[in-house]
Amino acid sequence: MKAADEKNPFADPGLPPHEPRIQDLDERAAKRSERTVALLFTLSMLATVGFIVSFVTIPVDQSVYIFMLGHVSALNFALGMTLGVALFAIGAGAVHWARTLMSDHEIADERHPIEASPEVKAKVMDDFRQGAKESVLGRRKLIRNTMFGALALFPLSGVVLLRDLGPLPGTKLRETAWSKGKLLVNMNTNEPLRPSDIIVGSLTFAQPEGLDPHEHGFMTEIAKAALMLVRIQPDDIKDKQALEWSHEGILAYSKICTHVGCPISLYEQQTHHALCPCHQSTFDLSDGAKVIFGPAGHALPQLRIGVNDEGYLEALGDFDEPVGPAFWERG
Ligand code: FES
Repeated sequence: MKAADEKNPFADPGLPPHEPRIQDLDERAAKRSERTVALLFTLSMLATVGFIVSFVTIPVDQSVYIFMLGHVSALNFALGMTLGVALFAIGAGAVHWARTLMSDHEIADERHPIEASPEVKAKVMDDFRQGAKESVLGRRKLIRNTMFGALALFPLSGVVLLRDLGPLPGTKLRETAWSKGKLLVNMNTNEPLRPSDIIVGSLTFAQPEGLDPHEHGFMTEIAKAALMLVRIQPDDIKDKQALEWSHEGILAYSKICTHVGCPISLYEQQTHHALCPCHQSTFDLSDGAKVIFGPAGHALPQLRIGVNDEGYLEALGDFDEPVGPAFWERG
């Protein structure tokens, strides 16, 4: 406890009296805490072993159904869970150890300035200058230049390692699962769609036939190919190309927002505006899905559609531009 003075007008109340914990008084409680800590550390060891075993044994394309999450990669799920448990158990064990068994006497330590004294600073600068002089870096230009060259080139080895990220994407970023003749199937029922299924005033979400949610790569494909269908009276469609690419007023636009890729899901039937819930970009579906509000930089790409001999809606090709966020300004 320190009394108030002119420099520090408030008295320092000091530390509260030490309260012993149950573990300080009862050896059996201390033993229980010890066992709990050991149990948590053992759990961490088992989880680490589980992590290694999962990595070695679970095939990369195996999926598993998890309540609330749906189908997810079994390997990712196992690695995430085991790693999470291993880290959590170490942390929980350490915290429990510190709170129940380590000394809990509070100690106040006076802080002193950590800045070096002027004499020490001057000595360091002298040593530095002396060292620079003795290294003959200024005189031996060959050494200096080759050293800079070596240091400049060294980071390139890190760039080369980027190759391990996998093969180059090629044209994959520009293509989707749509192609000529692919049927449009309802995203919820997986049934092929007929024109009569698309009613005025609501959005219908579709995907290409043949996409299997249990297959590896499904999420990548659906993230590019997801489609929204809307029926508008042909007379109300302002954009000429949009009308030509539609079928009886049914327009098929990419469901992926061109801002940062959220799925668009809100539709205002009076105005034909589709709204992205993430940052409120608004697209006019009656006018080529042009942006009329918000941060999106491009209209939604449209898919040209028609009807096959059996009366089902089909794609007449792929999107003619990349879908989603302003991918390299659509280079
Ligand atoms: S992602 Fe759609 S507005 Fe930002």
